[in-house]
Amino acid sequence: MSMRSTAVALLSISALPAVGAQTSFEYCTVCHGANGNGNVAIHAPKIAGIEPWYLKNQFAAFRAGWRGAHADDAPGNEMRPVAAILTDAEIERALGYVASFSPRSPAITVSGDVAHGKELYSACAACHGAAAQGNAALHAPALSGRTDWYLVTQLRNYRAGLRGANAADSNGQQMRAMAATLTDDAALNDVVAYINTLR
Ligand code: HEC
Ligand code: HEC
Repeated sequence: MSMRSTAVALLSISALPAVGAQTSFEYCTVCHGANGNGNVAIHAPKIAGIEPWYLKNQFAAFRAGWRGAHADDAPGNEMRPVAAILTDAEIERALGYVASFSPRSPAITVSGDVAHGKELYSACAACHGAAAQGNAALHAPALSGRTDWYLVTQLRNYRAGLRGANAADSNGQQMRAMAATLTDDAALNDVVAYINTLR
């Protein structure tokens, strides 16, 4: 059985309320992989080591439909019902669970022109930091040590308006404007290839 069909069998949307009511959040790892280190086969990124404030912002974004609501966003469509089903108190508990993961350095899957990526990244550093370490005050998450294919997908999602298109989503709107400056797919790969050197 493929990973995707396993996830679907265990987590049909109608089964989620019962799962959410349990105190254990181990089902997160069915999609996000052992210790939340990501599962490329079902496009579920590494969440180990993610900033708690950023995780909360993303749950709010999924719940509001700023993320994961667009018909062309299949991975987002998978995550949105998970976020929608959890109460605020459960999200607090899920944060504690995610914080217990041991983050691993993910495999490098994206290659590109690192020198060009470095030039492009100079515009990103203002918010994400020179070492891509993130900046909580600006609501900009760390990008280093993350699943690289996921970063490319998100840049493409912002550019296509699958994410960051809602007027109420000020963080996403800022990022969407930045993604729009990366005009071709080569530029997306180049900037992520550079981010890969910042681990
Ligand atoms: C059915 C599969 C599935 C389950 C179960 C699931 N996720 Fe996800 N999650 C995904 C996918 C796929 C994405 C990527 C969405 C995208 O590309 O926008 C995602 C995205 C996320 C993100 C956004 C990461 C980022 O960098 O913005 C967070 C945070 C997250 N999940 C946390 C969790 C937590 C915590 C749980 C358990 C309570 C959980 N997920 C359960 C599939 C799942
Ligand atoms: C003006 C500040 C700002 C700049 C400049 C900026 N970002 Fe962002 N970025 C953000 C914010 C804020 C978020 C979180 C958006 C949200 O909460 O949805 C974000 C999110 C992201 C994400 C999604 C991460 C995830 O886990 O889903 C990626 C990828 C990203 N930025 C890459 C870049 C790259 C590459 C550049 C340079 C081309 C850049 N950013 C420039 C503010 C910025």
